[in-house]
Amino acid sequence: MGMASEKERQLASRADIDMLLKESHFSGSFEQWEEQRRFITKAIDRDGTILDIGSANGLFLKSLEAWSDKKLDPYGVDIDAEKIRQAKELYADKPDHFITMDKSAPEGFPKTFDIVYWNVWDNVDFTQPKGRQVLGKALEMKGEDGRLILGFYDHDGDDSRKKIDQLKAFGFSVQEYPSPEGRPEKVVSIDRASEEFLKKFKMDEEDRKADEKMKKEGFTPLNERVSYSIKEGQLQLHLAESFEMKDRIEDMYEDALRKIVDVVERDPSITSIGGLSWLNATKTYGSMKERLGFTV
Ligand SMILES: C[S@@+](CC[C@H](N)C(=O)[O-])C[C@H]1O[C@@H](n2cnc3c(N)ncnc32)[C@H](O)[C@@H]1O
Repeated sequence: MGMASEKERQLASRADIDMLLKESHFSGSFEQWEEQRRFITKAIDRDGTILDIGSANGLFLKSLEAWSDKKLDPYGVDIDAEKIRQAKELYADKPDHFITMDKSAPEGFPKTFDIVYWNVWDNVDFTQPKGRQVLGKALEMKGEDGRLILGFYDHDGDDSRKKIDQLKAFGFSVQEYPSPEGRPEKVVSIDRASEEFLKKFKMDEEDRKADEKMKKEGFTPLNERVSYSIKEGQLQLHLAESFEMKDRIEDMYEDALRKIVDVVERDPSITSIGGLSWLNATKTYGSMKERLGFTV
């Protein structure tokens, strides 16, 4: 078995390896694992801390350490607490380097890393806010001078190509590394976030916060930022924080005012329409309402 068995000895015994592979969501031999993963080290161009997002039991990080000629300090997060328990076992000398994703990072867990690796999950779509959320967080965690490495493992490579094209469409400069002859796996690195993506990511975050706030307060949304509530005959308008939407606030407010005409018509108990004082009285919003033809 040549090289593979040499690598195996660095990791563990054959029986252990089979179990570790299985625990790492991999069905195949260690040789196949090496064929499908080792080329990822081509994207690792520096020594330093490396975070694996979705680290499973840590076998991937252990393998990178063995295959790379760089000196790596491995960290992992996973949504699956059992995987993290297994990773703490595999890395018994540094159990605090592995945490479950839903917990906020404990003291001492780095905020940024020299390298962030993410095996982009099959169901991720970068044209959707949910898909952009993980990518945006991964870019934040790579720190200013860090490198983000993305691995794509789908079986025919078509889906990977599509996702890589989505990244390029956002203006990312994406470096791709050749996989072994005939293998569909792909790996790319990104050293700098694109402005266009960051803008979209910030907007997504604001959308999410606005939506959360409307739900939590029990307000009824009229559009992405404006909602209303009704209490004792008064319809109250609410505007969620809209820093990222500054140039669209007026349009959204107008849109909301038009929509409440329907609401008022359907509900005869409403006798007045109000808004928080700053919405009515401040220079910006008060004058906006007047511009829209309302008497304040
Ligand atoms: C295919 S394994 C990848 C293991 C290793 N990183 C590799 O590249 O071989 C994907 C891992 O991502 C984890 N995962 C899936 N969704 C996640 C999420 N939303 N947050 C964190 N981890 C997630 C899974 O639990 C699983 O352990």
